[in-house]
This record gives sequence, structure tokens and C-alpha cells, in this order.
Amino acid sequence: MNKCNIGLIGLGVMGRSLVLNMDSKGFSAAVYNRTWEITEKFTAGLAPGKNVKPARSLEELVSILERPRRIMIMIKAGKATDAVIGDLAPLLHAGDVVIDGGNSLFTDSQRRFHELAKQNIHFIGIGVSGGEEGALKGPSLMPGGTEEGWKIIAPIFTRVAAQVGGEPCARYLGPDGAGHYVKMVHNGIEYAEMQLICEAYDVLAQLLGLDADRLAEIFAKWNEGDLESYLIEITAQIFRKRDPESGQPLVDLILDRAKQKGTGMWTLESANRQATVVSTINAAVDSRILSSQKAARTTASKLLPKPESAAFAGDRAGLVAAMHDALYAAKLVTHAQGVDLLRSASTDHGWNLDIAGIATIWRGGCIIRSRLLERIREAFESDPKLDNLLLAPFSRAAIEAGQANWRNVVATAITHGVAIPALSASLAYFDSLRRERLPANLLQAQRDFFGAHKYERVDRDGEFHTDWQDETRSTTLLK
Ligand code: 6PG
Repeated sequence: MNKCNIGLIGLGVMGRSLVLNMDSKGFSAAVYNRTWEITEKFTAGLAPGKNVKPARSLEELVSILERPRRIMIMIKAGKATDAVIGDLAPLLHAGDVVIDGGNSLFTDSQRRFHELAKQNIHFIGIGVSGGEEGALKGPSLMPGGTEEGWKIIAPIFTRVAAQVGGEPCARYLGPDGAGHYVKMVHNGIEYAEMQLICEAYDVLAQLLGLDADRLAEIFAKWNEGDLESYLIEITAQIFRKRDPESGQPLVDLILDRAKQKGTGMWTLESANRQATVVSTINAAVDSRILSSQKAARTTASKLLPKPESAAFAGDRAGLVAAMHDALYAAKLVTHAQGVDLLRSASTDHGWNLDIAGIATIWRGGCIIRSRLLERIREAFESDPKLDNLLLAPFSRAAIEAGQANWRNVVATAITHGVAIPALSASLAYFDSLRRERLPANLLQAQRDFFGAHKYERVDRDGEFHTDWQDETRSTTLLK
């Protein structure tokens, strides 16, 4: 019997779609699910000629794979993944490759990488983005783990991945948890971009009273220019969708309570640990949390005063155009913050992440794919040491052209009481970054006042402490 090229554990929607994708590229797969009925149903329902073999047990799965074995796990991240690896590892041989394609926490991937290394088993933690359609037709794949392991699986995964300009959206990113870290930051950016779009929708709907049809037109138009992206494209489609029963735009009937599985929160936790600013992502996570507090908002909506502003009486077309520029600028800030976080973690973990390479594999297949990623790739390819994405010549030119509009949108929304946490956080980041001197001098003075925490001076070296309440005592140089 011919042995299969790859084994796949977990036949949820993503697992099933990946198997079909692999099959369509000519790779044979053995599949296993904890519940045999699911495996049986999946393989029995396949069109004739598919090279997919069902396995009743992990032992059987392992026995029908060519060596070195490639086994991909596509199950819920966390304890379940540990349990499967625990059962699987004793059945494997040195040189085999275990691939975790779940949305795993990168520290779990680091631990699994080191545990399996003791058995000389390669571990690859691979971020898989693009949802069901991506998995089926070509996802963006973000692998981290042993480089040798990647070489063993690359012939399959580079074919399965989305292709942009003849390049696969899959490349080796670095050791241990690097792949899952990059996927986590991808998701943080995903959260921020989704929130920015929601804010644009809110401002245009609240201030201009635009309905779903008009919003669909605006987003579809934006998708033809600099803002072109998967998320803008699907937003236009969402606005067009009608509820079959009532005929109303479906989006208007959806409860405004956002859910989340946690990757955005992980990004914030990591950014905190790295002392890196990801304020736009932070605003997006906060917004989901506040949206979920529906009862509290309903009560507050009846009690809290509204701003005293009149209805929007400005240039309506101008506001739509300004929103385009505000979105683009905030999108740049989101990516700038994402890059910052990737770099800081890369330094601390010794991953040597290649930012241009990451932008390359995010250009297709994934949820955040967009025209901007090509620009980001070019920017970091021509200047790998670029301090901040906002300093790239193309970013500076875009912000120069759009900053008046960006400010106008933020000011207008604030005046009229429409919350724009991500758009305004992005602008605040930009305005802080471009200032050589921030009011942190006063903050340092406050710290020294109440806690003798010391401060540095602009006119001489050293650390100083002042007795701020006693005018007779002077500043002390401490070291
Ligand atoms: C992707 C997505 C995906 C993510 C969902 C849901 O890249 O395909 O990031 O992996 O799990 O978008 O995430 P939330 O439930 O947290 O919104």
C-alpha cells in the first residue's frame, strides 16, 4: 500500500478544508478524528478519486504515513493539543515532524518544541490564517520551529498556501514559537483593522445617516484604491446582504455584542511584557469588551448626558473622503505598532524575524491581506533597519497628504459624541511619536516628588532628586 504524504488530526472545518486543499495539490493524506463517525462521514462523503485515507486510531494513522512522518494537528488550542501530542509522541520516531496548526499561544509552542526536541522530533507551530475558504483554496501559513522540520514539510505547505506574484504565502519564520507569535500579532492587527472599519461605519451612519446600500457603495469604492483589502471587501458585501425574512439589511439586525477567542488579548499581554505600544490594538480589544457589556450600556444610554452638538452640518462628501484618509493613516499606525512588537519579541526570543518576509506572506490568503502589505514589504526590503514604518518615505507622504482629514474625522466624531477609540488612539500615537519633547518631564517630577524616584536633566548628566517642598534645599545629584 502506498503510504500517505501527511497525516491530519482533527476534522473540524479547518482540518477538512486543509485536507481537501492538500488533495487538490496532489498530496495524499491520512486523517484521524477522536470520534470515528466524523472520520468515516468525511471520507465516505468525498468525491471519488480523492487520496484521503481514514484512520481509526493514532497507531493506524502513524502506520500509514511515509517517513519521516508529517502529522498536522488541527484541533482546539490548549489542553486538547497537549493531550494529542502526549498520545502521539510515543508512536513517533526521531526525525518525524509534528505540526500544530491551531491558534496556539506561542509560549505553548515554545514548550512543545523543547519537549519534542528531547525525542528528536521536529515541532512546527504554524499559524494558519484565512478561515475556511483560505484553508480550502490557499491560506497564509506562518511556520516556526525547527528549520529542518520545515524543510521536510515545505514541499507540501508551500503548495497548499496562497500564492501572490508567484511566491507562496508561507515561509520559515524562526525557531520554537516564532510562527505562532507572528500569527498572534496578525490577529492583533486583524482586531484593530476590524475595529477601525467599524468606527468608519459608525461615523458615517451616525453623522450622515447613510444606509447599508450607500455604505456598501463607499466600501466597494474604497476597495479599488489604497485601502484595498479583504476586510474592506467583505465589509461591502456584508452591507449588501439582506435578511431573507424581513428584507432589511442583515447587519442592522445583528446584536452589537462582539465575541473574542483571546488572541487579541494575548497580543496586549505580550506587548505589555515587551513594553511596546500597541494602542490601536488595545483600543480594539477594549471596544469588544465594552460592546459585550450590553446591559450596562443600555442603562447608561438612558442616564448619561449627550454632547450638546447639533446634527452634522458640514461637507458630507468631504467627511466620506476624509474617512478614507483617516482609515489609511490609522492602518499604517496599526501595522507600525505590529512591526514594533514583532521586532521587540524577536530580539528577546532570538527569532531573527524578517519583517519584509512576514509582510510577503501576509499579502495573500490571510484575513489582513491588503494592498498596503506590498508597500510594507517594499519598505522593509529596501531598508531592513527602518526604525518605524511611519518613517518610510511612502508612509510619510501618505500621512502628509491625509493628516488634515485624519484630524478632521477625529475632531468631528468627538464633537458629535461618536466613539472612535482606535482612530483616535492611532492619531495620539502619531502625535506622540512625532514630538521630540513630551510632557513626561512633569511626570518625572511628580514621581520624584512623591516617591524620590529620581529624574534626569536635559542640561547635565546624572540622576537627580529634589526636595520639592523645601525651597531652602537644593537639587541633589545622586550618581
Ligand atoms: C484567521 C483568524 C482566525 C481567528 C478568527 C476568530 O487568521 O483566520 O485570525 O484565526 O480565529 O478570526 O478570532 P476571534 O474569535 O478572536 O475574533
